[in-house]
Amino acid sequence: MPDYRFVVVEQKAGLATVKVSRPDKLNALNADTVEEIGMVFRALERDDSVRGVVLTGAGEKAFVAGADIAELSRIGPVTGVAVSRQGQDAFRAIELMRKPVVAAVNGFALGGGLELALACHLRIASENARFGLPEVKLGIIPGYGGTVRLPRLVGRGRALQMILTGEMIPADEAYRIGLVNDVVPQPALLDAATGLAHKIMANGPIAVAMALEAVDHGFHASTEDALRFESNLFGLLASTEDMREGMAAFLEKRPPDFRGR
Ligand code: COA
Repeated sequence: MPDYRFVVVEQKAGLATVKVSRPDKLNALNADTVEEIGMVFRALERDDSVRGVVLTGAGEKAFVAGADIAELSRIGPVTGVAVSRQGQDAFRAIELMRKPVVAAVNGFALGGGLELALACHLRIASENARFGLPEVKLGIIPGYGGTVRLPRLVGRGRALQMILTGEMIPADEAYRIGLVNDVVPQPALLDAATGLAHKIMANGPIAVAMALEAVDHGFHASTEDALRFESNLFGLLASTEDMREGMAAFLEKRPPDFRGR
């Protein structure tokens, strides 16, 4: 993995921990950071030694405090579209990962920071985390997928309340509306996110990848199409050694030894 300026990547026991790191700016996303996030996740997807990812922010105050407002203040209409597309593409690379990606939200997740967390498959928050899409306070709208993913996750009414008021909500409220999967004390956050990733990584990797594929496709497709797609993946999994191993292990009352084949 090459050296990045604003992203730190560590790998241990099949798990990659990706940390957005611009601590003096509360990890705000300038264009280079967005670019690096996309590059890192595309590389992790190709890396067979990686089976899961935890994404977090440097420091104890912020996950990511949004897109870099100093940079954004200089955009025009054409660059505005390009900036938005660049972020959407990088974040879509996360959503399209066929390995679980868990966001460990360790503080402010605002604007592009919340949108980054939304692109992850699962989210764990520390008790001090705060979530918001404050773009309308700046005269813009969320441009990295927030208007698309937030309503799909928490429902249109709650999403519109956050998008239209720009107000922040605390971690317990984020949990109540289903924006995060769990809330833990800050010192326990990385262990909780890592533990969740490892729990998933202990399952059949091809099954996990296809479950992600089925849910991603099914969410946007008609019920009929989604059901057929699910059946096809279900059938495809019956060709894997992992399926035989998983079922043999159950019948023989032993833990499975999945090989990803
Ligand atoms: N873009 C650029 N710089 C940012 C930033 C952002 N989104 N968020 C924080 N920073 C910078 C601040 O300008 C400050 O830099 P400085 O020390 O060089 O002046 C530094 O990070 C620390 O932030 P500060 O505002 O002093 O911390 P705070 O504790 O008073 O407030 C926040 C924290 C998160 C409430 C506040 O920084 C904030 O509202 N940030 C913008 C959030 C936002 O609107 N994001 C959406 C952007 S589309």
